[in-house]
Amino acid sequence: MAEPDPGCAAVICRGVEKAFGTGDVRLQVLRGVDLEARYGELTFLLGPSGSGKTTLLSIIAGLLKHDRGSVTVLGRDLAKLHNGEAALFRLRNIGFVFQQFNLIPALTAAENAAVPLLAAGWKRKEAVAQARALLADLGMAHRADDLPNKLSGGEQQRVAFARALIQSPRLVICDEPTSALDGATGRHVMELLRKVALSPERAVLVVTHDFRILEFADRIAEISDGVIQKVSQGKEAA
Ligand SMILES: Nc1ncnc2c1ncn2[C@@H]1O[C@H](COP(=O)(O)OP(=O)(O)O)[C@@H](O)[C@H]1O
Ligand SMILES: [Mg+2]
Repeated sequence: MAEPDPGCAAVICRGVEKAFGTGDVRLQVLRGVDLEARYGELTFLLGPSGSGKTTLLSIIAGLLKHDRGSVTVLGRDLAKLHNGEAALFRLRNIGFVFQQFNLIPALTAAENAAVPLLAAGWKRKEAVAQARALLADLGMAHRADDLPNKLSGGEQQRVAFARALIQSPRLVICDEPTSALDGATGRHVMELLRKVALSPERAVLVVTHDFRILEFADRIAEISDGVIQKVSQGKEAA
C-alpha cells in the first residue's frame, strides 16, 4: 500500500499493538493495526465481537495508551501529548458516542447534550439553547427536558449523539451508534452524522455491527485477529 499523505487523514494508526494483563493471562488484542480515517469521509470499522474495536477507538480517543506503534490524530502524535494536554485536545477536537451512553442521570437531555459547551465555558442558558436546537434536529424536541431514566435506549443514544456533535468537533468517534435504534431512526442518525459531522476538515470513524447502515460508509476497514484484514471503498462493499 502506498504511504498516505498525512494531510488527507484525520487518524493514522501505524503498527498499533495493545495487550491486557500480564503473564499467563496476557491477552494480545491489537497486533499491529494500520488504519486511516480520512478527512471528509465516514470510515467504518467492522469486526467480530471481542476483536478489539472498542480498544482501538479508546486509543484513538486518547483514553487508553497503546503499547507499540504510532497514533496520529488531527496531525498530533498522541504519544507526545502530556496528560493535561491530551484532555484539552480531546475536549476541543473529538466527539464520542460511547457504546454505553454514559449520560449523567441527574441532568436533563438538553443539559447532558450541553455538557461539552459548559466545560468549554459557555453560559448555561446559551449552552442549553444550543443543545435544544440540536436535539430538535434529532427528532428529540419533546424530550429535551426529560431525565435519562425516562428515555428509551434509542432516545438516550440520540442525546449521546447530540453531546458528541454539539461542539462541531473535527473528529467524531462512534462505538456501535445505531445498535439501540430502529432502522428508520438509525438511517436518520447516519444522515445527520454525514450532514453535521463531515466537511473537508473533519472526519467520522464509526464502529458497527449494523449492516443496515453500511451504505453510509465511504470506506470500510475490517478488523480480526488483531489486525486490519481488508479496507474497501464503501460502494464496493455495500
Ligand atoms: N480493560 C480491559 N482489561 C482486560 N481485558 C480487556 C479490557 N478491555 C477489553 N478487554 C478484552 O479485549 C478484547 C477486545 O475487547 P474490545 O476492544 O471491547 O472488543 P470489541 O469492541 O471488538 O467487541 C476482549 O477479549 C476483551 O475482553
Ligand atoms: Mg466494543
